[in-house]
Amino acid sequence: MADGAGDILKNARAEAYAMPLDQIDLSDAGRFRADTIWPFFERIRKEDPVHYTAENEEFGPFWSVTRYNDIMAVDTNHQVFSSEGGITLGDTPDDFPLPMFIAMDPPKHDAQRKVISPIVAPFNLAAMEPVIRERAGKILDELPIGQPFDWVDAVSIELTTQMLATLFDFPWEDRRKLTRWSDVATADDASGLVESEEARQAELMECAAYFTGLWNERVNAPPRNDLISMMAHSESMKNMEPMEYLGNLVLLIVGGNDTTRNSISGGVLALNQNPDQYQKLRDNPGLITSMVPEIIRWQTPLSHMRRRALVDTELAGKQIKAGDKVAMWYVSGNRDEEVIENPNAFIIDRERPRQHLSFGFGIHRCVGNRLAEMQLRIVWEEVLKRFPTVEVVAEPRRVLSSFIRGYEQMLVNIPARN
Ligand code: HEM
Repeated sequence: MADGAGDILKNARAEAYAMPLDQIDLSDAGRFRADTIWPFFERIRKEDPVHYTAENEEFGPFWSVTRYNDIMAVDTNHQVFSSEGGITLGDTPDDFPLPMFIAMDPPKHDAQRKVISPIVAPFNLAAMEPVIRERAGKILDELPIGQPFDWVDAVSIELTTQMLATLFDFPWEDRRKLTRWSDVATADDASGLVESEEARQAELMECAAYFTGLWNERVNAPPRNDLISMMAHSESMKNMEPMEYLGNLVLLIVGGNDTTRNSISGGVLALNQNPDQYQKLRDNPGLITSMVPEIIRWQTPLSHMRRRALVDTELAGKQIKAGDKVAMWYVSGNRDEEVIENPNAFIIDRERPRQHLSFGFGIHRCVGNRLAEMQLRIVWEEVLKRFPTVEVVAEPRRVLSSFIRGYEQMLVNIPARN
């Protein structure tokens, strides 16, 4: 794989430590794409763990919370740190609000979350397991051998999209629309995915129209076990305004799609960068259970969640004013050397692999966490059965975003089947 990655990181480190502290802006998407953000977080955690960025053209001023325990304190205190109005550094455009329960406070949040949660209850997960396994197996069986291909598209996207289509009971042949809508929903202006904000909104309205058709179909039919039917028949969601329906759809599409997709790809990369761990896994496939949460920590598919302070408050000696934006950088907390031993290393048999922030904490803790873990476990069980190795053959192309931490492309080669 890549050479020169060491030099790039060395230069980034020099830059991170030479820069005046107050000029460090942790939301620079370019550094996420180049994977050079690490030394910046490392320095901020040590020297200014609750850090203020006074000026940012795109996001306005904001606080960065970078240590594990401080992030936990913010995430579990929704009375002070509100999600209302948005959970990413970027604001939702005023002319295109997308209400969704991840960006609401109680009591509305709690009522809507309650509607969605049963779909990922243990009973339903157990019922889904054989379906996911069969679909994963089929995808893997069709992969080319001895010929490079894009793992992101062929495996990660395909599998998570199939999963999502299953959750929504979405028309199978149209399922790639879900992938597109997920990408468009989180597209950065500079990402090149959409031409303009207008084009982005137009695509999301197509998404709304499509799902409205499905809603109308299901609201008049007996209740079923898919997410749309569950919403359509629930007291707290059946009267949602159209934009709120769209908002909650986007939440489920992005929540269930990008994050798991990037963890599936991230695992392949982590094992390639750590061949000793790959060998350990081959020697003992039972380690998949602890490897899965380690992949999710190592990858941290959502770099941050944002809150807004409702009252003046103090955090680690800093005075945060009512109305200030506060970013919880999970990606940094997951590398906090004071809480996690050897945090930059990928270790598939860690003693406490679930000690990570990737799913958040508090009332918004990820609804789909067990589903995501199950999908990853199944993928790896099925991969190990089939292939002695999956080799990453080129530096992956990463997403240009300080919110989604993931991959656009990852070329791999599978030299042989077992
Ligand atoms: C590795 C995969 C995943 C990661 C890393 C992830 C991460 C997160 C994070 C960080 C939050 C916000 C937590 C907070 O603010 O404290 C969240 C919330 C949420 N996630 Fe996930 N997620 C994943 C997979 C999924 C899946 C598969 C689904 C859906 C089926 C899902 C649905 C949701 C929903 C609905 C919420 C909103 C919960 C609320 O506001 O109460 N996620 N997720």
